[in-house]
Amino acid sequence: MKGIVLAGGAGTRLYPLTTVASKQLQPVYDKPMVYYPLATLMLAGIDEILLISTPDDLPRYRELLGDGSAWGIRIDYALQPRPAGIAQAFLIGEGFIGGDSVAMVLGDNIFYGRIGLDEIVANFTKGAIVFGYPVEDPRRYGIVEFDDDGHVVSIEEKPEVPRTNLAVPGLYIYDRCVVEHARALAPSPRGELEISDLNRRYLERGELHGIRLGRGIAWLDSGTHESLLESSNFIATIERRQGLKIACLEEIAFNKGFIDIGHLTRTARAMPSSPYRRYVERIVEGAQNGEPLPQLIG
Ligand code: TTP
Repeated sequence: MKGIVLAGGAGTRLYPLTTVASKQLQPVYDKPMVYYPLATLMLAGIDEILLISTPDDLPRYRELLGDGSAWGIRIDYALQPRPAGIAQAFLIGEGFIGGDSVAMVLGDNIFYGRIGLDEIVANFTKGAIVFGYPVEDPRRYGIVEFDDDGHVVSIEEKPEVPRTNLAVPGLYIYDRCVVEHARALAPSPRGELEISDLNRRYLERGELHGIRLGRGIAWLDSGTHESLLESSNFIATIERRQGLKIACLEEIAFNKGFIDIGHLTRTARAMPSSPYRRYVERIVEGAQNGEPLPQLIG
């Protein structure tokens, strides 16, 4: 399965932060925001990733992430000239997807906890998967309803009278038909190719599956000043308590077997002296001493 990180958008709600650097490059505690959705895909075992962003920002992502070889993965880049909708990612990414299935994560969505995405991806064959996450005010979100077998019965955008309290986070899995379905979409009244319309096409065919994310999982979206601060505080709290980092891409790459110990050592040596480098060096030392790797969760 391929992966897409959608990291375009206007980021207007974060003005003036976003005047010179896009939303997904902003810090979430000790890393750029985009590290977290990248980590989500890598934890799922996905090692071919397309990052989509704006003409202004794409060069900065290239500078930050390179071709992915630091983590033993491949990162390709593509432009979205203007924010014409989340579902447009599949038209932009058509060549990259190339008849494969694809997982897409929005660049400002942070997941923490045991989703089991690696198993979900490994067992995926057909249709599409959305997730459902319990939220306090369902009227602010896309809301999903599914039966006991996980068949989605309804999906509604910001409903006046929500049928469930399960919001749909920015993480989706689609089969190879996604490009064809995206091509059939018409722009909505606000001029965007809507992800909810794409999901509706799968729903109408009885091919949309829902998976409930339990309350032990954190789903954070960092699109406002308040949620950005909350995300930073959340990550800082866990990292400082455990002495373990969330979304350390080098640790994940090593743990997943994308890179070996020699590669990890060289990557650490190339980093400037910093707490982040020290953390990666600790992983190298632990592996050299035969210590078990810290458990990954994702
Ligand atoms: P939003 O938060 O809906 O929009 P935004 O990022 O432009 O921010 P604001 O509302 O403050 O102007 O977007 C959610 C995610 O999807 C975010 O990571 C940006 C991405 N996105 C695109 O990359 N292209 C698009 O066309 C749209 C609509 C969103």
